[in-house]
Amino acid sequence: MFQADLLKDERVLITGGGTGLGKSMGRRMLELGAELVICGRREAVLDETAAEFDADFPGRTAWHRCDIRDPDAIEAMLEAVWADRPLDTLINNAAGNFLARTETLSPRALDAVLGIVLHGSAYMTLACGKRWIAAGRAATVLSIVATYAWSGSAYVVPSAMAKAGVLAMTRSLAVEWGPKGIRLNAIAPGPFPTKGAWDRLVPNKEIEAAWLGRIPLGRVGEHRELADLAVYLISEGAGYVNGEVVTIDGGEWLKGAGTFSLMEALSDAEWQAMRGRKGG
Ligand code: HXC
Repeated sequence: MFQADLLKDERVLITGGGTGLGKSMGRRMLELGAELVICGRREAVLDETAAEFDADFPGRTAWHRCDIRDPDAIEAMLEAVWADRPLDTLINNAAGNFLARTETLSPRALDAVLGIVLHGSAYMTLACGKRWIAAGRAATVLSIVATYAWSGSAYVVPSAMAKAGVLAMTRSLAVEWGPKGIRLNAIAPGPFPTKGAWDRLVPNKEIEAAWLGRIPLGRVGEHRELADLAVYLISEGAGYVNGEVVTIDGGEWLKGAGTFSLMEALSDAEWQAMRGRKGG
């Protein structure tokens, strides 16, 4: 799909890049020539992923333990990263989420999700942005949101609030920082199974099967599909795409939104009967 050296020498930082979709995006970007920095909260996970990447792409992955809820930790990480070589791309991928009835949430529970997704993405974006702007350097930011950033969703309310905020930041800064050569875009993925999300968001097999039934394409996403979209959005080929959110969900959210989507339950005979019906 892409030229093998599409991202040659591009330096990309992926928050939460040690696992899940962040890891899949990182591997794909390395395949296309990028230099990678991954960060996360767990040293052992980062070390293991970096060693795996190093075996296939020697010397092109660095990692930093960093909780993005802590702006001082971000500053320390970015000082170290920039001392080596400035970044070209930031991917706000790290997230926190769980299913809960909203009236049961404590303030700390709310803060746990908002802290990672909303504040963490904003701290990272601002800390990178001020460095890029001071140096007059072109750059890109890509944030992973969710379709419920605009539809909202019951039972993941802190996440919906946070993703909506990240999308608002993306659109706002696309305008403010566009003149400085910084493009910001977002991806809204539907169901792409990862351990982190599935353990927290899919309580049982029945719900998993019901979820599949909500997706017009009848399947979950493959990590490679999302990774390729991310590659495109950070690449020069997307140089005129700014402030956009691209949904990749097999049509899931539109099916949920469409007034007549439930008509898929009608049989052929019922469709025939409908056709024979007269109005008035
Ligand atoms: C109610 C909960 C809870 C739950 C935690 N809390 N889990 N409340 N229901 N299931 C409360 C705790 O009781 C505590 O409040 C507060 O949240 C903080 O919990 P900690 O465990 O101390 O926080 P922390 O260790 O920082 O963990 C953060 C986390 C956790 C968000 C709670 O789930 C996490 O680290 N997640 C990271 C990975 C992840 O979530 N990945 C999935 C992303 S999927 P009290 O008051 O008791 O102290 C995604 C998009 C999916 O974002 C889109 C699909 C289409």
